[in-house]
Amino acid sequence: MRLSVIGAGYVGLTTAACLAQVGHDVFCSDSDVDKLHKLQHGVMPIFEPHLQSIVAHGQEIGRLTFDSTERTIDFGEAIFICVGTPPLGNGDADLSAIEGVARTIAKRAEGYRLIIEKSTVPVQTGAQLRKHVSVHNTNGLEYDVVSNPEFLKEGTSVEDFLHPDRIVVGVDSSRAARLLQEIYQPIIDQTFTCPVHADCPRRPGVHFLVTDTNSAEIIKHASNSFLAMKISFINMVADLCEAAGADIGKVAAGIGLDPRIGSDFLHPGIGFGGFCFPKDLQAFVRIAEKFGCDFALLEEVERINQKRVHRFVEKLKKELWVLRGKKICAWGLAFKPNTDDVRFAPALAVIRQLLAEGASVRAYDPQAMRKAQSELPELTYCHDAYEAAEGADAIVLLTEWEEFRNADWKRLAGLVERPWMIDGRNVLSREDVVGHGFQYVGIGGVSGTPEMTHSFASI
Ligand code: UDX
Repeated sequence: MRLSVIGAGYVGLTTAACLAQVGHDVFCSDSDVDKLHKLQHGVMPIFEPHLQSIVAHGQEIGRLTFDSTERTIDFGEAIFICVGTPPLGNGDADLSAIEGVARTIAKRAEGYRLIIEKSTVPVQTGAQLRKHVSVHNTNGLEYDVVSNPEFLKEGTSVEDFLHPDRIVVGVDSSRAARLLQEIYQPIIDQTFTCPVHADCPRRPGVHFLVTDTNSAEIIKHASNSFLAMKISFINMVADLCEAAGADIGKVAAGIGLDPRIGSDFLHPGIGFGGFCFPKDLQAFVRIAEKFGCDFALLEEVERINQKRVHRFVEKLKKELWVLRGKKICAWGLAFKPNTDDVRFAPALAVIRQLLAEGASVRAYDPQAMRKAQSELPELTYCHDAYEAAEGADAIVLLTEWEEFRNADWKRLAGLVERPWMIDGRNVLSREDVVGHGFQYVGIGGVSGTPEMTHSFASI
């Protein structure tokens, strides 16, 4: 099928590349001409596992083309709108980019178009879009506007798109539902060459959920808000474990065994970040307000999350006393591993507070330092985790990259001023760390000192 994708961010680029991978002919555009030019020459604007290779493959075999918005609109029978919906000052989602694309489609396209809203948007945006296109429709365009929210996570976007838990479509015509089923059939049946898994664990029969547009839009916001709520919940339980002398790792495992709860997204830490949870939570609260629903529950989820950073810095103060003049080694800058994205990253919020307290920070991240530099130019960026640890009074783990889990603690013990490790993501092996003479402090009552090593086995 000939498909168009407007917007080459995480959702747009992954959508375009994956739909080409499963056999469609795809044109993709972006209003950022510099980004578009780079993509036309195979330069990726983001670090995302597997994405570069399938973009290159799609271009090579002529199934994926990056071109202007106008030519992209002309190309496809179905047009995916994947432009950004960043937060406005009051927390509402900024829909101006979507409105702009809708008007261009209305003024330019001829014949029939399936207009697919894939960006995360407030409920009733689809209805607004339908109206807007009809107002600006100068060519007698026949069209359907549908909602098709995307649930991919950064760091695993290609895998999540090709192996989704579900595909949700919000439509108001059977023609639209049929076309969307046709677009996604290779993914529903899992009949494509998988670029992620050598021995692909195909699970045919992916759920293809057909609803109305409003419900589909709410499914997206509610899903993200629920996941954020789960994280804030486990972070509160972690604080209780710390105060009451329990182990959050054990507690999370215990409650997660209940399939009604599930063990995913019960990982305590310094809070959730990224470009989705914080803004979607705010936007959902704002929408509810507009419809007279008081979502205080989600406001509390946000408040708990905002307090994580302060609480973490207090832990450092408790151990290091005065932070002014202390040397802190910061491992991780991205909001999560396997991405170079630092937007709303809790790691940067922690570092900003440390710098404000007069500490000097030496940081290392495998992928995100270039993007972090534009936000925190005053930080010292190091070539690796060991250079960052030189002379440190404390090592803080802020993003759980795999390489930190496999750190050489013997080597680190010889580099630091003081062997003190505070694990903001509870991913390190306490035995390993303490076994090499470090004091270890985690989140939620998980801690250890060299003296304790002999007792760990019994816990
Ligand atoms: C999220 C949703 O998961 C995805 O479905 C949606 O499409 C976009 O938003 P993403 O923002 O890429 O994806 O990252 P995610 O893996 O959800 O992590 C979000 C934040 O929560 C990160 O900062 C992560 O560190 C934090 N997190 C996640 C926790 O603190 N604990 C957990 O158990 C899980």
